[in-house]
Amino acid sequence: MEPSGYAGRVAVVTGGNRGIGLECARQLAQAGARISLWARDAAALERAAQELAPLAQVHTAVVDIGQEEAVRGAAADTLAHFGKVDVLVNNAGILGPRAPVQDYPAEEFERVMRINLFGTFHCCAALVPAMVAAGYGRIVNVASVAGKDGNPFVSAYAASKAAQIAFTKSLGKELADKGVLVNAVTPSASPTEIFGALDEARKAALLANVPMRRFVEPEEVARLILWLGSEACSFSTGATFDISGGRATF
Ligand SMILES: NC(=O)c1ccc[n+]([C@@H]2O[C@H](COP(=O)([O-])OP(=O)(O)OC[C@H]3O[C@@H](n4cnc5c(N)ncnc54)[C@H](O)[C@@H]3O)[C@@H](O)[C@H]2O)c1
Repeated sequence: MEPSGYAGRVAVVTGGNRGIGLECARQLAQAGARISLWARDAAALERAAQELAPLAQVHTAVVDIGQEEAVRGAAADTLAHFGKVDVLVNNAGILGPRAPVQDYPAEEFERVMRINLFGTFHCCAALVPAMVAAGYGRIVNVASVAGKDGNPFVSAYAASKAAQIAFTKSLGKELADKGVLVNAVTPSASPTEIFGALDEARKAALLANVPMRRFVEPEEVARLILWLGSEACSFSTGATFDISGGRATF
């Protein structure tokens, strides 16, 4: 992406205070976008905003994306601050517990769905009207290869990511003639905080299915999102873009 590729654009990145979201926000800022970071932790948001401040104008919203009213508030605040939103990266998400399905607490299953799936839905519902009114928008949903292949003991996570992919396909078709393109990315494992501390056995298990036999770096995922969030992505919508080191078979 040319440094000026996002000149004049405003991008919201949920969960933009760390991991893949922060890297994505950094690359968007370097490419010229103004940034709104949305996440739950005010102190972490402030640290991320200070880190990005030399690169771009940065706005922050403290919001739990699983709460509809809070998301509507964050959207109104961001639109009042910048006057528009061109790009929405639905990146915030949680893994939830690891447990066999018979031991999986129903309330935890619901929490994973509320944040990963309903969070994506709430953010889209809150910002799509402004994008449609402007006749331009790019939405990128950060799903996971787990949503295509499934992963043992994280059934809630995999189900939420599969649902996020189906949501992406539906919304992409819904908005295809409105100038608003909606796509998903499906990374394999990346060394961020989502897993907590990883011992060697867990690392080996995570890499066992990845033909390239390594983790994907947040920078690599962010580069794909950067393209999908840009005007250069002009004829793809409702699509799922793999970035799994060869793991995905469809
Ligand atoms: N790291 C991986 O291996 C991997 C692989 C595939 C997909 N993903 C997806 O990438 C996305 C980013 O994850 P990451 O790896 O950077 O992990 P991470 O744990 O470092 O980041 C997750 C971010 O989401 C935010 N968040 C969580 N719940 C929230 C809520 N209710 N409201 C607002 N913000 C909330 C966190 O504050 C954090 O900023 C997630 O959707 C994850 O499922 C990650």
